[in-house]
Amino acid sequence: MTSNHHQSVMFDESIKALDLIEDGIYIDATFGRGGHSQGILDRLGDNAQLIAFDQDISAINYAKETFDDPRLKLIHSPFAQMHTMIEDMGLTGKINGILMDLGVSSPQLDNAERGFSFNNEGPLDMRMNQTAGLSAAQWLAQAGEEEIANVIYQFGDEKKSRHIASRIKKFQLEQPLETTLQLANIVSEVVRGQKKKHPATRTFQAIRIFINEELKQLTETLEQSKQMLACNGRLSIISFHSIEDRIVKRFIQKNSRQKALPKGLPIFDQALEKMPFKDLGKQFASKDEVTHNKRSRSAILRVAAKN
Ligand SMILES: C[S@@+](CC[C@H](N)C(=O)[O-])C[C@H]1O[C@@H](n2cnc3c(N)ncnc32)[C@H](O)[C@@H]1O
Repeated sequence: MTSNHHQSVMFDESIKALDLIEDGIYIDATFGRGGHSQGILDRLGDNAQLIAFDQDISAINYAKETFDDPRLKLIHSPFAQMHTMIEDMGLTGKINGILMDLGVSSPQLDNAERGFSFNNEGPLDMRMNQTAGLSAAQWLAQAGEEEIANVIYQFGDEKKSRHIASRIKKFQLEQPLETTLQLANIVSEVVRGQKKKHPATRTFQAIRIFINEELKQLTETLEQSKQMLACNGRLSIISFHSIEDRIVKRFIQKNSRQKALPKGLPIFDQALEKMPFKDLGKQFASKDEVTHNKRSRSAILRVAAKN
């Protein structure tokens, strides 16, 4: 049976960070099962709008079946394409806040046939958008050993990346690599698990990030947010691993840090130094939340306001 349960992470903190305006226009870039979207709608007035994106059609279908709110507009698309749609709607520069709750949802992880889980046997797919691109199995079949090793190292910080890639290619000489447990077992022969961490955690994370172009999507969308957001518009972004968080941190720092101005510049030129964002800092999930929802352990919320 398909599970639709997803417990929203840092729910109060991430919505509070949007500093909602009653009749504002907001974007939930990662609808999932709509926990955050519902929280935002509950706090907005009748004339507000919430535009929600998800590249997973099962999230959008779930939303259509369970949400009946004229203020909510659902879009099945990777969020990196949102700026063109926002432009078509005439909303560039009018968005009061963008929420991004990155990564995968519990239904994606828990439904074995999606191929994200190293604990459940399923086809090695890992695509959030199953209508586009290569599955993990297809990519692993066509990629060379060095490319696989580089992906596992770069996106998973996995020191044994070369060894894992070599085992994958040896396995494929004997039989096709097609399932999650086949991959999990190959990795487990090479990597020792740590405490509560499965040996294949980093490898699965790396391949998932690569297959879904997660870092490229994030980088492009952050850049586009400069144009999309209205004055005082907020960015509220929850990430779940250090590679992702580094991208958000660097983007906010780069766009909010006031550079030292050369001495003696006239006031007119100093105005040109105005930065696009104000950095409003980072937060972690509370101890209480971590106790009740272990997914929140690694969550980092970063917040910025458009100047
Ligand atoms: C952590 S879940 C969001 C959960 C949601 N906040 C809730 O409370 O139910 C992340 C969701 O974002 C979607 N997603 C991730 N990257 C995406 C992207 N680049 N474009 C569109 N959707 C994306 C995933 O398909 C998944 O459904």
